[in-house]
Amino acid sequence: MAKSVLLICFLGLVFAFGAADHSPLQDFCVAQVGSSVLVNGLACKDPKTVQANDFFFSGLDLPGNTSNPVGSKVTPVTVTQLPGLNTLGISMARIDIAPWGINPPHTHPRATEILLVLEGTIEVVFITSNPDSRLISKILQKGDAFVFPQGLVHYQRNTGTGNAVAIAALGSQNPGVITVANAVFGSTPDISMDILAKAFQVDKSVVGQIQLKF
Ligand SMILES: *[C@@H]1O[C@H](CO)[C@@H](O)[C@H](O)[C@H]1NC(C)=O
Repeated sequence: MAKSVLLICFLGLVFAFGAADHSPLQDFCVAQVGSSVLVNGLACKDPKTVQANDFFFSGLDLPGNTSNPVGSKVTPVTVTQLPGLNTLGISMARIDIAPWGINPPHTHPRATEILLVLEGTIEVVFITSNPDSRLISKILQKGDAFVFPQGLVHYQRNTGTGNAVAIAALGSQNPGVITVANAVFGSTPDISMDILAKAFQVDKSVVGQIQLKF
């Protein structure tokens, strides 16, 4: 019960914030799943056919499976999972992190994120832009919230002894995720080894070893 009250207050706060996406020009524009119309966002379903379920998502009570190399799982609720979010400028996610697992360094190109810890202890970190590249970090406990400014590289780590659970709210229907390691070492096709060897000031063999992991 206390958990759901906390969550409702939290989402209220996010609405009050304002959001990064453009404002809607109508009550809603539920995304037409499978539409071939290409617009900035997604085409609208006929408003007369819109139902409550278009604004609904269920399952955020379920823990994500953290049995993977990074020890975390993000369950997103963006316009992809909840078509009613189209044009409304917000989305959310559940983040599960196993003890000492991480949600690896990443950035959301289109959204600021505010994160609320529901369970456990989470270290949150973001890095400011050049030239300072200052690392800003804090240890959060249950009930603590923290904001990651739009576009900045950030990560989370579970520094507690049990599982950690957090809910994130983001200021875009489609925040996007760029995971730094995947973008740099796992692009298709690869960024050339020469480029990465020079950028990271290491031997090409080191670059090759890392690329193999992605
Ligand atoms: C969690 O993921 C692992 C690795 O993919 C898999 O082996 C395991 O069966 C999954 N557990 C559950 C409960 O789905």
